[in-house]
Amino acid sequence: MHAGRVQMANFRAADLRVDKKGVIDLVTNIDVEIERQFRAMIAERFPGHVVLGEELEGGGGEDVPEYCWVFDPIDGTTNYAHGLPIFCCSLALEINGVPAVAAVFDPNREELFTAERGRGAWLNGAPLHVSSSETVIDSLLVTGFHYGVHRDPAGLMGLFSRFITRARAVRRLGSAALDLCYVAAGRFDGFWEQKLQPWDVAGGALIVQEAGGRVTAIDGAPYRSRGGSVLATNGHVHDEMLTIIREFRREWAESPRA
Ligand code: IPD
Ligand code: CA
Ligand code: CA
Repeated sequence: MHAGRVQMANFRAADLRVDKKGVIDLVTNIDVEIERQFRAMIAERFPGHVVLGEELEGGGGEDVPEYCWVFDPIDGTTNYAHGLPIFCCSLALEINGVPAVAAVFDPNREELFTAERGRGAWLNGAPLHVSSSETVIDSLLVTGFHYGVHRDPAGLMGLFSRFITRARAVRRLGSAALDLCYVAAGRFDGFWEQKLQPWDVAGGALIVQEAGGRVTAIDGAPYRSRGGSVLATNGHVHDEMLTIIREFRREWAESPRA
């Protein structure tokens, strides 16, 4: 919640500093400031716990720490830098590699999504449930594109256009954590994206699971926060989405340009 307050206090500020980590990959001084404050708070309250965050060093080693806070200070930085009010802060606590609790806060709508493994998921304290759509044609889907999309757009666009012609509609909001929370809340029926980072998904994936949804990699392999790709659905449309993805990938591999 504190991260959301810092986000809003600096949103659209004239002195917001925006730097480039890559051609289209942005970072603002507020991303860095929020993560610095978060790391200081954990170091003070829980010395010995590890923080894996997007902007500052630490937490990315090979060993599985006993306690690891997976933190994205702003998920939706491109939106934030452009003054578009679709962004959040995402947090998960992994204990021996297993997600235990999660929180995603959207300060624009004052929506706090939370989950506790085995206990459920909540929006501002009220229980969350995924949607009941049974088929992809009756589904509103959402996706995102990683920052390497300029270098290798064809496969990403191919799968995107495949879903555009199979689903009721497809959206792209620019915040993977909110995409996942909106699946948990039944606002979307399914979300897929490739080459995600642990801080993009660790919080939202637990929230989807605890809201009754299903989360895997996009090839159907078991979900891992460090696995890269994610397919998160209401459960009912999961297998149909997997079939569409597999069908597309098979045709893509067999096509002459592959
Ligand atoms: C990005 C957002 C976006 C997704 C990208 C992520 P960031 O995170 O979640 O929706 O498509 O893959 O990198 O950079 O805004 O924290
Ligand atoms: Ca992110
Ligand atoms: Ca971020």
